Amino acid sequence: MTAAHPAGDADRAARSAVAEAARRRTFAVISHPDAGKSTLTEALALHARVIGQAGAVHGKAGRRGTVSDWMDMEKARGISITSAALQFEYRDAVINLLDTPGHADFSEDTYRVLTAVDAAVMLVDAAKGLETQTMKLFAVCKHRGIPIVTVINKWDRPGKNALELMDEISERTSLTPTPLTWPVGIAGDFRGVLDRSDGSYRRFTRTAGGATIAPEEALSPEAAVAREGDAWQQAVEEVDLLAATGADHEQSLFLDGVTTPVLFASAVSNFGVGALLDTLVDLAPAPTGRPDAEGSVRDLGEPFSAFVFKVQSGMDAAHRDRLAYIRICTGVFERGMVVTHGRTKRPFTTKYAQHVFGRERESVDLAYPGDVVGLVNASALGVGDSLYADRPVDYPPLTTFAPEHFAVVRSRETAKHKQFRKGIEQLDSEGVVQVLRSDRRGDGAPVLAVVGPMQFEVATHRMEHEFNAPVALDRLPYSLAMRTDEASLPLIASSGGVEVVQRADGELLALFSDKWALRMLQQRHSGITLEPLVAAQ
Ligand code: G4P
Repeated sequence: MTAAHPAGDADRAARSAVAEAARRRTFAVISHPDAGKSTLTEALALHARVIGQAGAVHGKAGRRGTVSDWMDMEKARGISITSAALQFEYRDAVINLLDTPGHADFSEDTYRVLTAVDAAVMLVDAAKGLETQTMKLFAVCKHRGIPIVTVINKWDRPGKNALELMDEISERTSLTPTPLTWPVGIAGDFRGVLDRSDGSYRRFTRTAGGATIAPEEALSPEAAVAREGDAWQQAVEEVDLLAATGADHEQSLFLDGVTTPVLFASAVSNFGVGALLDTLVDLAPAPTGRPDAEGSVRDLGEPFSAFVFKVQSGMDAAHRDRLAYIRICTGVFERGMVVTHGRTKRPFTTKYAQHVFGRERESVDLAYPGDVVGLVNASALGVGDSLYADRPVDYPPLTTFAPEHFAVVRSRETAKHKQFRKGIEQLDSEGVVQVLRSDRRGDGAPVLAVVGPMQFEVATHRMEHEFNAPVALDRLPYSLAMRTDEASLPLIASSGGVEVVQRADGELLALFSDKWALRMLQQRHSGITLEPLVAAQ
């Protein structure tokens, strides 16, 4: 594929890339743990009829067969650490749903996933409102200019008042909520929704455990009054109030991140899930050309290009291999094509390309802008790397967050130093942990640095079970890393309580116990270079 296409082929490829991109919707669900992300994922897939019964795609501890939670640790804790993409067709669109880890300790991972989406669904628990992790992820979306659709979930359970929830959204996110549907019945008495586009009533009917698609009944406003009486009247009055405050959807404001369309749902009963899919297809943006590191935009119809947003290995015992997930930015991806790896300028053959969702893998022959492809045994590829055919492109590097926890890592079995080295290198290139080195450390033991301490657990677990190199961690008393330079080293070295280490990318980091230790050094020596790293929100 690096060879020039006959002009006609290239034109055809460009046209199909543009046409296929137009029907892609690539998004992630952001939420606080327990808001119902896994349940919603199941429900979305169920609606698209990927699976016959809810529960087969995704799951948590103690639930039935899951494909997303692959690691023992994930199962034991009931959390999802890894990310993958679920692709399905709905109406005439192709939906790519990227999974994100819910736990705050993996926010860096989630951030990387959010670089690969065009929209986000903010899932809010009706009883809890906007929770901390939702707010953090929301801030990332806002910063990246990602349009957000809000889903108020668990309306079948007692919760806050719908209007109060709207106030909370506008006060805490500065987004103006523009509900597309409005609940009939208070939280805990969910009867259906009023569709604000035409004033009609979509009445939900329950199925056993929400295991199959909940049938909806469309009723006229007149029929709705007769059926629901006061609950309908109240919904109508509240909707009038919304209209009076200008809470109506306007596409350009949504795309500009000024407003957020809101839907009410009960993921566990599959209520409102079809409306979410329709909203994504009708309103969420399709992929557009992406700016490269210099800021110039490469058009969708240009030859294939992509960037790696996640690298992962040892997904489960049956597939002990390394996968690099790419988001396609331009052109057509054809399995087997030879592309260039931007960082090394080496050719890379895409022989094994897969759609991956947890344990489910499926070979991909063709893919288009917005799609996510898992490249198997891509040992040369690191997070943030660009791949391209024909015309070089360098997409912007992915942000590395400032670590806040540090530990020296040592092999527990000296004979296993080879496995130890390989494992540490692997975790570093996957971005599971940052590996820091220091000449001052006599035994040359690397220092692992993480944003959240649970990343240490993942590293320890994987070193033992995947690389067969059990490790011991010694926590270090630092909580703050600042970027420094060679010229500052002598002055820093003469001060106590500070350690300088080097990251794999060559960056020198000065480690401090806390901000007071930092300020003390800055006061003593004003000429030292000490710059903050990007904080994990
Ligand atoms: P997460 O991925 O965001 O962490 O949330 P998850 O889907 O695991 O859902 C967390 C809990 O909330 C689950 O209950 C789930 O069944 C429940 N839930 C999700 N959506 C709804 C909803 O619309 N209504 C109600 N009433 N509950 C909902 P659990 O007891 O922790 O697990 P399980 O044993 O029920 O699976």
